[in-house]
Amino acid sequence: VSLKPFNTFGIDAKATSYCPVSTIEELKSTLEKEHNNPLFILGGGSNMLLTKDIEALVLHINLKGITIVSETNDKVIVKAMAGENWHEFVLWCLEHNYGGIENLSLIPGNVGTAPIQNIGAYGVELKDVFVSCEAIHITNQRLKTFTKSDCEFDYRESVFKQKLKGQYIITSVNFELTKTKHKLNVDYGAIKQQLEILNVTNPTIQNISEAVIAIRQSKLPDPKEIGNSGSFFKNPIVSAKKFEKLKENFPEVPSYKISETEVKVPAGWLIEQAGFKGKRFNDYGVHNKQALVLVNYGNAKGSDIYNLALLIQKTVKRIFDISIETEVNII
Ligand code: EPU
Repeated sequence: VSLKPFNTFGIDAKATSYCPVSTIEELKSTLEKEHNNPLFILGGGSNMLLTKDIEALVLHINLKGITIVSETNDKVIVKAMAGENWHEFVLWCLEHNYGGIENLSLIPGNVGTAPIQNIGAYGVELKDVFVSCEAIHITNQRLKTFTKSDCEFDYRESVFKQKLKGQYIITSVNFELTKTKHKLNVDYGAIKQQLEILNVTNPTIQNISEAVIAIRQSKLPDPKEIGNSGSFFKNPIVSAKKFEKLKENFPEVPSYKISETEVKVPAGWLIEQAGFKGKRFNDYGVHNKQALVLVNYGNAKGSDIYNLALLIQKTVKRIFDISIETEVNII
């Protein structure tokens, strides 16, 4: 089975077999039967680079449904099943005028994979609206509820990427959203500018979503047209001391202060300075509007893209003495 339609990078890797599951019962019974065989759990396929064929049963999590768990005058708890497409879920919330995830518009992937890497953009992270999630243990098939603190969220990190890696499948996520008195997040410079362009002075959550969509469409390639997985690398966090030294050599280096002792440096800037922005090698390369995004123009092999990533890491390390980690899972 070709996995090309199931990964946003559009890599034509093959899987031994493929099985979509659309109910919890189906998921449980498949796991009971198969948990001793090699399994590969597939969600939205938006955060992985397949560098080889998958010698396993690919289990595609297709659980669907959005329900209201509880509500007050001001707030609502919404439960979304893991297989719901993330952006369609955002649009559903906007139609109902539920606020909190409008800044996370147009992020590729599914609801169930969003907590794994604590997706984030334009000043909001998934953890800001996350209440809990349910997940099924792969070997004993028990369902467990994870609270926010159980998930150990951090910048593009959670317990599901660390000590529980490969042990659970998230089946649904509960979000706390606002019905009135929305907390708007417009501090991000690009959003302010875009709202001005859209001529909006008193933004609604729908306006913010429109602004985010416009910004993302102007910078990030649409995976339906050009294969990619969004930011390929995480923005590195360096000590304030190291940053001071960097600034001596590169006075124009952009940065965000994390704490008194730590500074985040945009990896996109480092990669652009290293000369990779817009570089194309045959069927793959570095996006020309955002150096943090590696792209597949057609029939690139995952291993080619991976080798390019290694070259970028090595070059950035040599020039800036900074190690950049991949954000995308390398399979
Ligand atoms: N920059 C460059 N050249 C580039 C790209 C960026 O110089 O080619 C510099 C610019 O100074 C720019 C700064 O980097 O001001 C920051 O760029 P941008 O605002 O585009 O954000 P980012 O740090 O590149 C992060 C997230 C994105 C998220 C945006 C907006 C990570 C790894 N990436 O990117 O998330 O959409 O902020 O909040 O944290 C993703 O995770 O897949 C993703 C797209």
